Amino acid sequence: METLDGVGPTIASKLRAAGFTTIEAIAVTPPMEIAEKTSIGLNTILKIQESARKMLSADFKTALEYYEQRKNMRRCTTGSKKLDEILGGGVETQAITEFIGEYGSGKTQICMMLSVTAQLPYERGGLEGRAVFIDTEGTFMPERIYQIASSLGIDPHEAASNILVARAYNSSHQCLLIDKLFTICPENNVKLVVVDSMISHFRGEYIGRETLSERQQKLNQYLHKLLRLAEAYNLAVVITNQVQANPAAFFGDPTRPAGGHIMAHACTHRVYLRKGNKGIRIARIIDSPYLPERECCFMITEKGITDAEEE
Ligand code: GTP
Ligand code: MG
Repeated sequence: METLDGVGPTIASKLRAAGFTTIEAIAVTPPMEIAEKTSIGLNTILKIQESARKMLSADFKTALEYYEQRKNMRRCTTGSKKLDEILGGGVETQAITEFIGEYGSGKTQICMMLSVTAQLPYERGGLEGRAVFIDTEGTFMPERIYQIASSLGIDPHEAASNILVARAYNSSHQCLLIDKLFTICPENNVKLVVVDSMISHFRGEYIGRETLSERQQKLNQYLHKLLRLAEAYNLAVVITNQVQANPAAFFGDPTRPAGGHIMAHACTHRVYLRKGNKGIRIARIIDSPYLPERECCFMITEKGITDAEEE
C-alpha cells in the first residue's frame, strides 16, 4: 500500500484501521466514504485513488483490454445442466445473478448448492475457489452442505471449511459485512459471494413511503459495491429476492420482484423461480442483457439441485 503515491506510514495505518487493506478496495470505494471512515482529506484521497487505479489499470481501458478482462470470465455450475444452459453455461463471474421467487421456490437451495460447486475444479464446472454466504434469514444449513458435498464426491469436511458464513442481523450489519468483502475475498480466494436475501432486512426496516428513497439509495449503493467486487476479483455474486404482490397486474403473473427498478438495473441476470407439479421447479430468465428469455425445469433432491427427471 505504501507503494501508492501520497501514502506514507501514517496514512497507510489510517486506511488499514478503517478496513481498506487492499489497493482494489481503495480504488473502488467512493472517495467520500473513505474520507468519512479515515478522516484523511478528500484531496489526498483523490490523489491516492488515482494512483491506485493506475496501478490496477482501472481507469479508461481500451476495448481490447476490456475484452481480455471478459475473457477471464468463468461460469459455475448449478448442478442442473438445463439450468446452466439457460444461464449461458452457469452462473457468471464479474456479474450479479439474482434469483427471485416465492417461499420454497428453491432460492436458498440453489445458493447452498453453488457454495459447494464453486469449489469444484474448472473441468467439473467449478471456480476453484471458496464461497462467502451472507445469510439474512437464518436458513443456511451446514448439514445440507455435507449432504451436497458427499453426493458430489468431495470431502464434506473440506467443503464446509471452504464456506465462510455470516449471519446478518439487520440491514446496516449486512452493509458492514459487504464492505468487509473487499478484504476477505482476495485474502481467501473467494470466487462466489452469496447474499440470501439481499432485500429482506431493507423491506422489514424501511416501512412507509417517506423512507423509500433512502432505502433504495442504500440498496443501490450496495448492489454497485457487489458488482465492483465481482469485477475486481473475477468472482460470481449471487443474490436472492422475494416477490411482492403486483396490484397493477390484471392478467398474467400477479407477483413481481421486490426492490423496484434499482434491483432490476443493478443485477446483470435475473432468474425467476416458481413451483411446478411433483416437486418440479421452473426457472425463467428475465431481463438479461444478452441471455434469451428461456425457461427450464429443475429439481431439488437430497443431492442438491439436479435436472428434472424425464417423464
Ligand atoms: P424462502 O427463503 O422461504 O423465500 O424460500 P426459498 O426460495 O429460499 O426456498 P428453499 O430454497 O429454502 O427451498 C425449500 C424447498 O426445497 C423445500 O420446500 C423442499 O421442497 C426443498 N428441499 C429442501 N431440501 C430438500 C431435500 O433434501 N430433498 C428434497 N427432495 N427437497 C428438498
Ligand atoms: Mg430462502
